[in-house]
Amino acid sequence: MKLLEPVNAHTLALNNRTVMAPMSRRRATNGIPDEMVATYYGQRAGAGLIIAESTAVSPSGMGYSHLPGIYNAQQIAGWKKVTDAVHANGGKIFVQLVHSGRIGHPLNLPGGGPLQAPSAVAAHGNVNTIQGPLPMPVPEAMSTAAVEKMIDTHLQAAQNALEAGFDGIEIHAAHGYLIEQFMHPHTNQRTDQYGGSIENRTRFLLEITQGTIRIAGAEKTGIRFSPFAALNSLPLYEEEIATHMYLVPKLNQMDIRYIHLSDQSTNGSLPIPASYIQLLRQQFKN
Ligand SMILES: Cc1cc2nc3c(=O)[nH]c(=O)nc-3n(C[C@H](O)[C@H](O)[C@H](O)COP(=O)(O)O)c2cc1C
Repeated sequence: MKLLEPVNAHTLALNNRTVMAPMSRRRATNGIPDEMVATYYGQRAGAGLIIAESTAVSPSGMGYSHLPGIYNAQQIAGWKKVTDAVHANGGKIFVQLVHSGRIGHPLNLPGGGPLQAPSAVAAHGNVNTIQGPLPMPVPEAMSTAAVEKMIDTHLQAAQNALEAGFDGIEIHAAHGYLIEQFMHPHTNQRTDQYGGSIENRTRFLLEITQGTIRIAGAEKTGIRFSPFAALNSLPLYEEEIATHMYLVPKLNQMDIRYIHLSDQSTNGSLPIPASYIQLLRQQFKN
């Protein structure tokens, strides 16, 4: 297997096996990526595959300023310029869908607050706003109906991503944003079918994944996890490996394209243990 040789895994042919990790540049205005963003990604199309920076599925998911979005026509048109630039240079590009959940500040949300999350548990720390750095407030706990609507919101964003010309969709289940807030017992203290047991805490992610597969196909669907990353005020928890290893065989059965791991040890977190990687490799065959 050679790094710089083309690969034709499933239906997505890549010019080589290098993948550019998602890196938030946050250069959008009103969530719209402009010509500068198209130039930036077009210049990097020599990678076999680019995973574009995290992109909000809705106004309530724009916890950071200048985050791009993919929930309205202008944003879709902006991303179309980006995907065209990458394709013109022979590359492939996936979107990374995110909702920031309790991370961020209402001043950054285009429609105003409050922040939305599985439970009313605030993250520690400050976030930049137009008024300077401010503490992240206690988010509003979503109702069950709001959770169901949020799943639809993710699926609409997946549909929008295809319209914008993306080659696939990475579901951001890492780094302490909304999906990981559902997976984690510290941020998910719900008593409905989306909280409590591992099965319930992972339901939000699995329903989004199933829906994304219906829309885009399994070969265009990937997921990012960040096991043991102490990011965005999430403590380590006892059931972390059990939670992930409940998910992995299901994702394998769904035949998703990939599981992308984020190791944050360069950022002060624990490295992902070899035992986790071994279990994942045993259970995920794609
Ligand atoms: C400036 C910057 C922005 C990032 N933005 C994202 C992002 O939008 N989505 C994501 O999943 N990871 C993001 N990451 C994490 C990277 O994808 C990568 O996992 C991280 O830098 C660790 O890799 P390293 O040890 O090689 O730096 C970002 C990292 C940096 C430094």
